[in-house]
Formats: sequence, structure tokens, C-alpha cells
Amino acid sequence: MYKPLRIGFIGAGNMAFGIAKGMLSGNVLPVNIKVSAPSSRNMKRFQEVGISVTHSNAEVVCGSDVVFVAVKPHLVRLVLSEISQYVTKKHIVVSVAAGVTLSVLEELLPENSIVIRLMPNLPCLVQEGALLFTRGANAKQEHGDVLRSLLHCCGLVEEGPEAWIDIHTGLSGSGVAFVYLFAEALAEGAVKMGMPSSLAHSIASQTVLGAGRLLRDSGKHPAQLRSEVCTPGGTTIYGLHTLEQGGLRASVMSAVESATERARELGSK
Ligand SMILES: NC(=O)c1ccc[n+]([C@@H]2O[C@H](COP(=O)([O-])OP(=O)(O)OC[C@H]3O[C@@H](n4cnc5c(N)ncnc54)[C@H](OP(=O)(O)O)[C@@H]3O)[C@@H](O)[C@H]2O)c1
Repeated sequence: MYKPLRIGFIGAGNMAFGIAKGMLSGNVLPVNIKVSAPSSRNMKRFQEVGISVTHSNAEVVCGSDVVFVAVKPHLVRLVLSEISQYVTKKHIVVSVAAGVTLSVLEELLPENSIVIRLMPNLPCLVQEGALLFTRGANAKQEHGDVLRSLLHCCGLVEEGPEAWIDIHTGLSGSGVAFVYLFAEALAEGAVKMGMPSSLAHSIASQTVLGAGRLLRDSGKHPAQLRSEVCTPGGTTIYGLHTLEQGGLRASVMSAVESATERARELGSK
């Protein structure tokens, strides 16, 4: 008989909740998920959706087939040394910690452990995440397929070489904050021109959402979509000229570059 996979989360923070929530909108039942954290402060939202919680990391590992390590990067060593004795060759251990490399993860876990490094982002919460994973030395294609099947409702799930994980962190993990800054600035421009703030913020967020969906669903290059909005001599080309004068394109490229370099720096510590 088909036995559902048991999923564990070590760490009950924002990312663990985002991934768990995405999974629940797929075919994973809350009864098959367990979460651990030292305090109870983040537990309530898991309990509210029927997920059981514990303060024991060992309990999560022993009761799971797939274990997500979702603690802050500086705590990964501590947590892996604690759970290592309970990890078997049957477990799939998935780390979402920014900057923590596969070689560090593999070194801290028993020999031949199946390890996957995953970089999600927070829109998993609304099933619109962008997730990139890379498999460790002992993780086979079938283990990647298991992860994909668990995460497919979290958003876009792609696989790539480990060198791309830090770039993805800059592009998408941090990128959501860059988009929020842009949305905030759009709204503030409208407030400056006399629109009430709450209306300006609703319209700015809908504009970002609509532009994003059209960009993804049309499959068109952003430059093409941009040119479709530009009437010669019209409002948009005037606004775009102002953005180019302000160096928006170069600033955004540099922001992805800085965030990627920071992820690499954190990983090398
Ligand atoms: N947030 C993002 O957008 C994002 C994106 C990509 C990747 N990530 C990665 O996701 C990981 C978690 O980030 P987050 O934003 O979810 O952090 P967070 O909200 O601060 O949550 C961290 C969780 O770890 C728990 N924890 C601390 N020490 C622990 C221990 N010894 N054993 C078990 N659990 C422990 C905390 O417990 P308490 O509840 O008791 O405080 C908390 O629930 C990080 O490594 C980060 O790099 C985050």
C-alpha cells in the first residue's frame, strides 16, 4: 500500500512555514508534517493548520523521511552535529540555509548521507515562490524528483549546479525585497502627485502583480513587453527616460551582484 512521505522541519521560522504552507496546498497532509524549534513563539501558526510541533529535533528526524533544515545559517553546524546520530541512509536532508555549502553539510552528516541544498524564497507562502536546488554527491535524480513532487505547489522549482545557488539568492531570495522597494517607490510617486497613500499602495502592488504575471505567462522578453506599453512620445517613454537617467538598470544589476557576493562571503565563513 502507498505510504505517504513524512516531512520534518527543523526550525519553525518564516521559511519553514512558507514551504510547509506551499506543500499543504499540494498533496501533503498536515498529519504527515512535524516541526521543531527551541521555543514555542513560532509554533502557533503551524498548529493552526494542523501540523504537530515539538521542541525535540531528534524526534523530527526519527519521525521523518525528508528533513528540512530551516535554521539561520550560523546555527546549521550546531543543529547538524546534534541530529547527525539520528540521520540514516534513508533520509533526504534538505538545507535551505543561505551560504551553507553542500560540502559543509556533507561533512557534518554521516558518510553517504543524501543531502540536497535548496534556495527558496518567501512567496512560497502564496504558492508563487522561485526555488532552485542542487543535489549532493549521494542524492540521485530520484531524490530530486521526490523534492520536486513535494514542492511543486510552492512555485517554480528548478535544479542547477551549486554555483548558481548564491546567484539565485541575489536574484530571487533578496530580489523580492528589491521588488518591494520598487513598489514602495511607485506608490510614493503617486502620493507625491496627490493620491491617498492607501490607494496608491494597493494600485502599486496590483501593478507589480499584474506586470509579473503577464511577464511570466506571456513568455515574452521584458524589453518586448516594455516596448508594447510605450506609445511614441507618450507618458511611459518619458517616465522610462527618467528611470534610465537615474541609473535604475545599473543599480538593480549591482544589487543582484552585491547580494550574490554577500551570499558567497557568508558561505565561505
Ligand atoms: N526568509 C527568507 O526569505 C529566506 C529565503 C531563503 C532562505 N532562507 C533561509 O532559511 C533559513 C531560516 O530563515 P528564516 O527566515 O525562516 O529564519 P527565522 O524566521 O529566524 O526562523 C529560524 C527558526 O530556527 C529556529 N531555531 C533556532 N535555533 C534552533 C535549534 N537549535 N534547533 C531547531 N530550531 C532552531 C528558531 O526557533 P524559535 O522559533 O524558537 O526562535 C526559528 O523557528 C535561513 O538559513 C535562511 O538563510 C530564508
